[in-house]
Amino acid sequence: MMGLALTAQLGALAACIVLFLPLGMAGWNLSRNKVLFFSGALFISLAVVIHLAPHLSSLSLLLLSSLSPSIGTDGTSSSSSDAIPAASFSSCIPFLHDITWRQESPASSAAWQWTPATHAAGCDFQRVSRPDASDLLNGSWILVAGDSQARLLTLAFLRLLLDPVALPPIEADLFRRHSDYHASLADRGITLDFVWAPFEPNLTTVLRGLRSRSPAARPDVIALGSGLWHMLHFTNSSLFGESLIWLKRAAVALLSTAPLHPPHMFWLGLPMLVNSMLNTEEKRVRMNETVWDEYDQELAESTILRSDGGPCLHVDIGSLSQGCGRRCTTDGMHYDNVVYEAALHIMLNALLIESQQRI
Ligand SMILES: *[C@@H]1O[C@H](CO)[C@@H](O)[C@H](O)[C@H]1NC(C)=O
Ligand SMILES: *[C@@H]1O[C@H](CO)[C@@H](O)[C@H](O)[C@H]1NC(C)=O
Ligand SMILES: *[C@@H]1O[C@H](CO)[C@@H](O)[C@H](O)[C@H]1NC(C)=O
Ligand SMILES: *[C@@H]1O[C@H](CO)[C@@H](O)[C@H](O)[C@H]1NC(C)=O
Repeated sequence: MMGLALTAQLGALAACIVLFLPLGMAGWNLSRNKVLFFSGALFISLAVVIHLAPHLSSLSLLLLSSLSPSIGTDGTSSSSSDAIPAASFSSCIPFLHDITWRQESPASSAAWQWTPATHAAGCDFQRVSRPDASDLLNGSWILVAGDSQARLLTLAFLRLLLDPVALPPIEADLFRRHSDYHASLADRGITLDFVWAPFEPNLTTVLRGLRSRSPAARPDVIALGSGLWHMLHFTNSSLFGESLIWLKRAAVALLSTAPLHPPHMFWLGLPMLVNSMLNTEEKRVRMNETVWDEYDQELAESTILRSDGGPCLHVDIGSLSQGCGRRCTTDGMHYDNVVYEAALHIMLNALLIESQQRI
């Protein structure tokens, strides 16, 4: 309880700093819609006001440590060459995955919602409607790169942004095996790309390619996710960890060469694997719980995640798929759309929070 309260307070202080320190990160267009902007601003401000009041004295201390990246508050911060230029915080980020799942009847599909605790914490997360998402992402380039989980997230984007009647041909296109996909929603200035990148070095290549573009011509949102292919074909977690460290370096380099237009980066975690449901003997042998845990551990040790001081906000497909459960998968690995829909709304709420920095 103490730990939780302290974390919340630290988070609130950090959010406050982020709110009041213009970090020079203008130039990204997530906050054009004033209504959306205002509702987002309101929940952040509330959280800040509620948590900040009794702690003004510690503000200056935290301010100092936030200004010099080499002074980590927990002593685990990475070496200066790996430091990311401007960490962003919010007291609500840790609550983004506080989701509960339910199923009205065995025949109905699973449904999700944020827990009351998130509201109690002042984080009024919302499912973002199609018009609001269009406004939020207006003028943005979204790049999703990775394996089939990333492809399913791309589908969630399209399902949110497009009219359902337009979907079937697009889905067929998107699911052509092992290929890239490009969608341009000209009316809203939204570009959505999926890049097939099943292995971590493929993702590193994608990020290095982006670095050669001028900062203003890079994606605004980048979501990356892989690991299942590595697990199946190499089954070697330390090798996975090594390739994640290269990937993290590429991500940090991308951020540090774009101080004015830092892309918002996300990492899609591994889904829960239901071993008995996996559809080949090879998968059942290689992709067991022990191996999954080792890969997860390597993910943490790579410090690619924001919670570990890295560049990417974790979209925890593992916890979402676990919450939805076995009823939501037929092959023990790919889940129903509702899981990736929840992941998408978590990302959009994170973007809403982060766009508040541009006040
Ligand atoms: C998106 O932004 C453009 C200007 O860049 C504007 O003309 C258009 O109406 C906007 N669309 C939406 C849906 O907000
Ligand atoms: C991904 O990387 C592997 C080797 O690391 C390579 O063989 C493969 O062609 C790459 N795939 C794509 C789609 O770039
Ligand atoms: C796993 O990869 C590491 C690092 O490349 C290597 O040293 C080790 O021998 C590999 N383990 C197996 C069982 O192949
Ligand atoms: C999990 O799979 C790995 C690699 O195939 C194997 O070495 C290990 O013994 C398995 N562990 C369990 C508990 O099945």
